[in-house]
Amino acid sequence: MSPSELVGIDDLMKEPYVNVLCYPELDPNVVIKRINELKLLKVNSILFEGKTRIGRLGVVGKGCVSVVVKALTDFGVLALKIRRIDANRISMKREAEMHLMANSVGVGPKLFESTENFILMEFIEGYDILEWLKRLEEYTVNGIRKVLRELLDQCFSLDKLGLDHGELSDPKKHVIVSKKPVIIDFESASISRKVSNLTKIMQYLFIGGPMAKKLRQLLGIEDEKIIIDSIKNYKKEIGWISYLKLLSKLNLIPQA
Ligand SMILES: Nc1ncnc2c1ncn2[C@@H]1O[C@H](COP(=O)(O)OP(=O)(O)O)[C@@H](O)[C@H]1O
Ligand SMILES: [Mg+2]
Repeated sequence: MSPSELVGIDDLMKEPYVNVLCYPELDPNVVIKRINELKLLKVNSILFEGKTRIGRLGVVGKGCVSVVVKALTDFGVLALKIRRIDANRISMKREAEMHLMANSVGVGPKLFESTENFILMEFIEGYDILEWLKRLEEYTVNGIRKVLRELLDQCFSLDKLGLDHGELSDPKKHVIVSKKPVIIDFESASISRKVSNLTKIMQYLFIGGPMAKKLRQLLGIEDEKIIIDSIKNYKKEIGWISYLKLLSKLNLIPQA
């Protein structure tokens, strides 16, 4: 891993940092505007570190609409999501709205501020869910049950709210397991689509995903069909009754 580098925002207009601020192609016309937005956001410096590389610089992550870095701000160390120059949208505002809605039901990293080109949010330290699943052996069964229950609860909260995340069928890039699981990235979220957060996550965790069989065993579920039936039942009528039924089929309701 290359060493981390702390860079004050006025230095962001220099190479190689400017290539992250304006990824993937340098556009001199937007540099100053972006640096001014960062000032409005009270970002003091950027900490270039992380598993993903842009040139020699480390960043936290990279997606099709953005690059995510660590930012030192007046509020502490946060995650800064930077709109890519080639993103298929002209602003982060819509994503920020969806993200704030998710926050209103306790889902997602806490969003601090947003502008046209940036979203500033809580930085989540942890494993992506695939990594977490690969490490199941390291955790207690109770710990695993807690994470699963919390993740399902969050998906149900989004379902009730009417916000469909849109990318939970392959959640490896969209669920980070920290002290608890955190759903990230609301760029594909919608309030006009039919919601399928819980059903998508269920499908991944217990049917199609890489550790489905192992998780079923852990929860003492003999037959995959039990899961398929409870998903079907929940889909028919999304609500507390069908959700609680589903949890009880998964043996995820603690017995008094
Ligand atoms: N708040 C956060 N805390 C920690 N890592 C994050 C955070 N937000 C995003 N990331 C990392 O950055 C990557 C890209 O972010 P994402 O929001 O998925 O971008 P995109 O919308 O471009 O797909 C994620 O896969 C994740 O690894
Ligand atoms: Mg993404």
